[in-house]
Amino acid sequence: MSEITSDVIVIGAGPGGYVAAIRAAQLGLSVIVVDKRAQAGGTCLNVGCIPSKALLHSSHKFSETRSHLKGHGILVENVRLDLKAMLARKDAIIDELTCGIGFLFRKHGIRFANGRAVLLGPKHIQVVNEDGETHNYHAEHIILATGSESISLPNFEIDETRILTSTGALNLPKVPKSLAVIGGGYIGLEMASVWSRLGSSVTVIEAGDRLVPTMDHEVGHALHKALEKQDIVFRMNRQVTKVIKKDKTLTLHVTPANQKTDQIPEIIDCTAVLLAVGRRPNTHGLGLEGMNIEMTPQGKVVVNRHYQTSCPGVYAIGDIIHGPMLAHKAMEEGVAVAEYISGQFAHVNYGIIPAVIYTLPEVASVGKTEEELKEKGISYQAGKFPFSAVSRAKTMGETTGFVKILTDARTDEILGIHIIGDAAGSMIAEAAIAMEFGASAEDIARSCHAHPTFSEAMKEAAWAAFDKPIHM
Ligand code: NAI
Repeated sequence: MSEITSDVIVIGAGPGGYVAAIRAAQLGLSVIVVDKRAQAGGTCLNVGCIPSKALLHSSHKFSETRSHLKGHGILVENVRLDLKAMLARKDAIIDELTCGIGFLFRKHGIRFANGRAVLLGPKHIQVVNEDGETHNYHAEHIILATGSESISLPNFEIDETRILTSTGALNLPKVPKSLAVIGGGYIGLEMASVWSRLGSSVTVIEAGDRLVPTMDHEVGHALHKALEKQDIVFRMNRQVTKVIKKDKTLTLHVTPANQKTDQIPEIIDCTAVLLAVGRRPNTHGLGLEGMNIEMTPQGKVVVNRHYQTSCPGVYAIGDIIHGPMLAHKAMEEGVAVAEYISGQFAHVNYGIIPAVIYTLPEVASVGKTEEELKEKGISYQAGKFPFSAVSRAKTMGETTGFVKILTDARTDEILGIHIIGDAAGSMIAEAAIAMEFGASAEDIARSCHAHPTFSEAMKEAAWAAFDKPIHM
């Protein structure tokens, strides 16, 4: 069978893969991208970040219109939900964005092959499409960017109608009367917010003693309190041992986490259950075993700092390698791997990767948490400033939360910034750039910030870290 040849093959058209493909093409390399989905964009665009953000925004508008406009002097009666239209809007956004990637591929002369790829050797792959047809491809460089998939639990049969992963939770045709969410991490909290705003009674069952354990504890505690005020119920330190499907009800058996499961369980009845207990790298069925590609015990692909695997010519980026499973981290790696392949210098700063949870209030962070600094014995200063003292936040009625800046006590260099508040996801960009440039808190404090804006909380927290805030 004849082979189609290019300089680079990218397996996976998610944020890591499609960015790697575009950057490689910009640098003059010929590129083929393979994906088992017919549309590019991966989990992020098709069943992850983008649809969830569309529903978070729509559900926020619904709950705001129903409950929060009165205080602004706006009276609205008989607010009703058209869930079908809300889901259709989300699907239209997905279509537009995935088509946008198709357009970028065509613009850069990137070829797209739809089908499942298997590595046949260091420079050869086979792609099997939905009709069972096979095509062979050859390239000097193969980039694996196959992403991740939801983890299930024993005794759970995912059907995506009542027992859901995030994919099913983005497409429920009816608001479930009650929803149990297993896992109080990124996905659990965002989807709990969506369906609770749309009228479902939501209970989050979390095995740990805090939400999103990697988050700065003070921020995590504030988020927990804010979500409880939104009527989301939390059962912490709990595990689900069994799900019994009845006619219209699911019965969950819930016991204390990390204890024997033979105790009499607490019973939680619900209409639907979402499993959000983490994701695992998507590496099976790729033919990696046959090529002796080194893996970690957790199933991630081992790479060197040029993203090369133990097999020369084969690279890996994104969720299947070290680091957080975040779209923007994969995108940075996509740029870097393409630049390395084309002989340039490249760099990803893993100490400065922002993370955002799109709840209300949003949570955004970059750099070290207070707990990490304590654990490492680093002497630090903490400067904090609440949005309740920020005039723009007052005018908008969005005063929940604060900015916290952690600095090196000796040098004033910023080591971490943690924000909980309405604009946190946008504000974190300033924090990341400041840290990339090695800024001190005084650098931020003495940079002019527009008034009135939420970003004044950043400036004031910076003042608080190295001296005293002005407005407190
Ligand atoms: P996660 O790792 O964020 O949270 C999983 C939670 O489930 C943890 O709090 C864990 O303690 C808990 N858990 C684990 N096993 C459990 C059990 N048996 N019973 C109860 N609780 C249990 O994972 P999640 O939410 O599934 O998200 C996966 C990844 O997707 C995240 O790590 C994140 O990187 C990415 N993501 C990012 C988003 C963003 O950037 N806004 C949004 C959604 C996902």
